[in-house]
Amino acid sequence: MPDSPRHNASEIPAEKQIVFLVGFMGVGKTSVGHALSEKLGWPFDDLDDRIEAGCGRSIEQIFQESGEAEFRSLELIALKGLLAETTSGRRIVALGGGAFAQAEVARLIAETPGVTVFLDAEVTELYRRCGEQKKERPLRRDLSQFRKLYEDRISSYQLAQLHIDTNGKDIMTVATEVACSLRAGTLK
Ligand code: S3P
Repeated sequence: MPDSPRHNASEIPAEKQIVFLVGFMGVGKTSVGHALSEKLGWPFDDLDDRIEAGCGRSIEQIFQESGEAEFRSLELIALKGLLAETTSGRRIVALGGGAFAQAEVARLIAETPGVTVFLDAEVTELYRRCGEQKKERPLRRDLSQFRKLYEDRISSYQLAQLHIDTNGKDIMTVATEVACSLRAGTLK
């Protein structure tokens, strides 16, 4: 197994200590979040998991029974709850693919001391990755609809401070790149 650089989390500037992972469905926000959490020794939260736990329904059920608008309002409530609990920073948060494209979510995050990290990949690759996963994604139908949604959201994702291309990279490589960029302060 190749050596991955060691990371001393205390080298990451204090004001950058909530890491928000944003990006489209299938890009690996949750997997990279877990890997980064192990690397830095910081807790990890997945916003979709919190939504499901908070209302006792799966994402798929929420979409089916209550529609996307209700899901978006639950997403905002879940984020507010998470931020209210996070008093001391040092946390990694994976957002669902549509969260950062919601103006109110982006505004709340902008007001929070932390750093936003946009994980990206080719749309066809994202579509393929989603198809291989067990997670049900109500907003993934066919490739052209998936591509249109990606294109509608790209300008929101691009507001993130750090951009990482995940094409052809495994989870650990991406997590290492994120950790190195945070430590080096190479934020755009
Ligand atoms: C969504 C992405 C999903 C989940 C929900 C809606 C979206 O999360 O929040 O199905 O709007 O793109 P992932 O990005 O983890 O798939």
